[in-house]
Amino acid sequence: MYAFRHGSAWEVLAPAKLNLYLDVLGSRADGFHDLESLLVPVRLYDRLRWVPQPDRSRYSLRIRSLIANQPSLENDHPDNLVLRSAKRLADSAGVALNGTFQLWKRIPMQAGLGGGSSDAAAALVLCNAAWGIHYPVQRLMELAADVGSDVPFFLAGGAAVCRGRGEIVEKTPGLPRLHFVVAKPDASLSTPVVFEQWKKLRQAGGEASIPADGVSRVIQHLRHGNLAGVGNWVVNRLQAAASAVSPIVDRVVHFMARQGFAASAMSGSGTACWGLARSAKHARFLAGRIKKSFVGDVYCISSCSAA
Ligand code: C5P
Repeated sequence: MYAFRHGSAWEVLAPAKLNLYLDVLGSRADGFHDLESLLVPVRLYDRLRWVPQPDRSRYSLRIRSLIANQPSLENDHPDNLVLRSAKRLADSAGVALNGTFQLWKRIPMQAGLGGGSSDAAAALVLCNAAWGIHYPVQRLMELAADVGSDVPFFLAGGAAVCRGRGEIVEKTPGLPRLHFVVAKPDASLSTPVVFEQWKKLRQAGGEASIPADGVSRVIQHLRHGNLAGVGNWVVNRLQAAASAVSPIVDRVVHFMARQGFAASAMSGSGTACWGLARSAKHARFLAGRIKKSFVGDVYCISSCSAA
């Protein structure tokens, strides 16, 4: 993630992510869950801009959604992850939170695509540059973990296996460019609600066991370009819980599984599902076909170049 200067303003593009593998290892005393997840940033972006204000002690946040059917986000809300990140950095560096933030949202919200976390990472990168703080990425990642579990991943750049509650990021170099179709139904899900449901399902028993080395198998197959092999190892442990809360997820998962992708699964805590195509052309072909029958949004997107 990089900040670009436009006159006195600065801008950052904040990518979405897909979870190509997500195992929940257990609940933790702090209310979070230990995870093992392979995340890949993809080329669907929110855009965050910072413009200086004459009064260096004032700030504001303006949000515009560029897509339909989204939960509305309140301008200037202090709980917004952009402002929380900026405040965290300002406090750490001993400067006043200042400037006008403008956020253009293209990443569907509450879909498991990481938009809010990516915006939070973007705010750290943006303010770090605009305020002349110049913290190294490692320092920003420490601040990021306080803001949200997925925020450090977006700062690290590229594909990574994330562990702990998500904040322990091990970069995964050497993956080829990957081509996806993402299907997002007209439904959204809250992450805490899905984790609560996962707990209930686990207590009720019957959770299938999965191999301990699943994530490294997925990575190995991706590195060798053996996309067909990936499908045997892909898992999203939250899929059953998300489907229990919002049954449409199960229908989308099964719909995507029938389309001829090398692999497919739900992303994060849902509701969006991805399919891994064999090439960019294959992705365009399948996206075109899916658009004819799928009720919801369909995106044809590839992984970011650093992935
Ligand atoms: O860290 P973040 O704010 O994105 O997490 C949102 C919510 O998702 C948490 O409050 C928690 O309920 C749930 N969560 C979890 N375990 C994780 C990550 C998130 O239970 N590893």
